[in-house]
Amino acid sequence: MNYASTILRTLLSHRKIQTLRMSSVHENVKNYYGSRLETSDDLQTNAACVLPSRPLPHSACEALKQVHPDVCRRYFGCGLVIPEKLEGCRVLDLGSGSGRDCFVLSKLVGEHGVVIGLDMTDEMIYASKKYEQYHQEKFGYTKPNTIFVKGYMEKLSEAGIQNNSLDVIVSNCVICLCPDKKRVIREAFRALKEGGEMYYSDMYASKAVPDSLKEDIVLWGEGMAGALYWRDFIDLMKETGFSTPHLVSGSHIVVHNQELQKKTGDVKYASGTFRIFKLPQKSIRSKAVVTYKGTIPDCEDCFQFDASHSFKTNVPLEVEEDMAAILQNTRFSSDFHINMVDTPDSAQIPAAQFCHLSPFNLADKRGSSVNQCSKTGH
Ligand SMILES: C[S@@+](CC[C@H](N)C(=O)[O-])C[C@H]1O[C@@H](n2cnc3c(N)ncnc32)[C@H](O)[C@@H]1O
Repeated sequence: MNYASTILRTLLSHRKIQTLRMSSVHENVKNYYGSRLETSDDLQTNAACVLPSRPLPHSACEALKQVHPDVCRRYFGCGLVIPEKLEGCRVLDLGSGSGRDCFVLSKLVGEHGVVIGLDMTDEMIYASKKYEQYHQEKFGYTKPNTIFVKGYMEKLSEAGIQNNSLDVIVSNCVICLCPDKKRVIREAFRALKEGGEMYYSDMYASKAVPDSLKEDIVLWGEGMAGALYWRDFIDLMKETGFSTPHLVSGSHIVVHNQELQKKTGDVKYASGTFRIFKLPQKSIRSKAVVTYKGTIPDCEDCFQFDASHSFKTNVPLEVEEDMAAILQNTRFSSDFHINMVDTPDSAQIPAAQFCHLSPFNLADKRGSSVNQCSKTGH
């Protein structure tokens, strides 16, 4: 046998092993969420109970109160995936579960927006479809603006999600359950429009999770085996072509089950919510002086963009290249006066300090300087 065919055989068998592993992870996770877990109380961590490190916007709070209790009972997320300014948007929720976030988003995008919930589990798709009409009537819509689709987030095109078709992608504690994260992130990038946003909460590890933990069914189901080391997540996003991830909130995750605690050893877990954008390739990169107009619903006095940027209405602020490009090229562009300048007059205009926080140190800082909008009484 020649050298080339030996290599080909090795590659094929390696691919087969990888495929088998990926499908067996999917089957385990399907079983875990489809039949093993009844309610969020059955989880082995406090992930579904972590409180966001900033207040819930008023309209999201009101929408959440209208979601059917049976849907909320089966909430398995680990953060709040409700970004601002959603009216009329087309939103996709990756791994939508029983649909709690989809129904909140359904209210916020309004009758002319669309929310697509994608999940690989029959039980979850059934559970969310069951309450579709209930929420349509509750929100006073003439027809549902939600679509629940069975499919894999690694294969969005098979689920009918087209290129450049979405304004926002959200996901709540799902990517940690998936064995091929690169593929999911690439698919999300393909499906987002230019200027679109990925806003998602996930579980992160304080260091790379050892391979020995990746064979454990419960650790996979809980997201602990597949959680990314948070620095690897930042690199993965940038490699795919997204903007630098901006951390919105972070909370420590406590593992209740002592047996699992022992298995994970010194690996610590936190939930983190990040916002990340698909910017035009040729966007101009320069610092800018930006002034928020106070026009985003629920944020009339101050727009808390992330843990390090809060924009007070009518107060100019100097921002770095990356932030300037985001404000200029996304749905927030009409909410700001933006002066792109090579050398802003930093002697007169205060500058926003973008600190590269991890979900872990943000969780440690909670309650101190994080929520700058509410600190000033807004
Ligand atoms: C931890 S639950 C979170 C559900 C929902 N986001 C919530 O907040 O309640 C994870 C969900 O993701 C789904 N899921 C996991 N891996 C998936 C994949 N590769 N493709 C599609 N759905 C997936 C599971 O079926 C499950 O419903």
